Amino acid sequence: MQIPLSRTAVRADDDVMETVVLPAVHRTCGLVGAELRGLDLTLDYPDETYAAIEQAWAEHGVIFFRDQHLDAGQRERFASRFGTIRVKQELRKEPEQTRAIGEGWHTDMTCFDEPPKATILFAEEIPPWGGDTQWAGMGPVFEALSPGLQATLLGLWAVHANVRKLGLSYDQTDPPEPSIAEYDAAEGPLHPVVRLIPETGRKVLYVNPEFTMRFDGWTRRESLPLLRYVYEFGVRPEFVTRFKWAPGSIAMWDNRQTWHFAVNDYQGHRRVMHRILLAGSKPVPAEAL
Ligand code: SIN
Repeated sequence: MQIPLSRTAVRADDDVMETVVLPAVHRTCGLVGAELRGLDLTLDYPDETYAAIEQAWAEHGVIFFRDQHLDAGQRERFASRFGTIRVKQELRKEPEQTRAIGEGWHTDMTCFDEPPKATILFAEEIPPWGGDTQWAGMGPVFEALSPGLQATLLGLWAVHANVRKLGLSYDQTDPPEPSIAEYDAAEGPLHPVVRLIPETGRKVLYVNPEFTMRFDGWTRRESLPLLRYVYEFGVRPEFVTRFKWAPGSIAMWDNRQTWHFAVNDYQGHRRVMHRILLAGSKPVPAEAL
């Protein structure tokens, strides 16, 4: 989809002519993701501009901007246009550190009762090569499953927890794999396996390899074959996009409908990002077909 760069609008209340700048939306590769062009995010735009960004975001799952060098205040002001800021943090990998945060497919913090709605990542320093991030779109994934499997998944709920005790420091990014018994005993919120994205009416798969423990009422051992099937299916190349960062790049992903993976292929180099998580709400289950 391509929407015009700008249009002239007449405000009904005072007959003032004003130009509303709208982003040009360019889809990336895979059935997820779009790059938005034509905006300078250091500026404050009228509400219609942010509404167009939100629309592209809900439709494409993850959106990208390039050459946006925002300071801390500008990052916060931009993020606040889309919701309540829940967490602000620096993700810094120093040359001597070998593990990276997020180097496995996951959705951020679905172990919470109300998982973050979205994550915004701002690139400050990027290694000379590598350090890309990948996203998989769970709307296209769900739509590509057979009607039989869709119907089965629509009837299920799953337990989510942080059984590996993943944290934000790099020494917590590679914890040992817990036992099956620990997965079975893990306690956490129940989320629908297929959730609805109210803005688009889309049904999206809502399990992820990091935080989904088991289907509700099933053991971990019983859950694994089906979970493994959708985890493998979900990262087929047609559902995945990959973003090459540069200083000033921004990625905003809808944490309700994507998985992501930080590619850790830049040993010996620094990578510095700023991350903002926006507050979410309890996932709404999609209704049976
Ligand atoms: C994350 O998992 O949120 C980090 C992604 C990245 O650093 O590319």
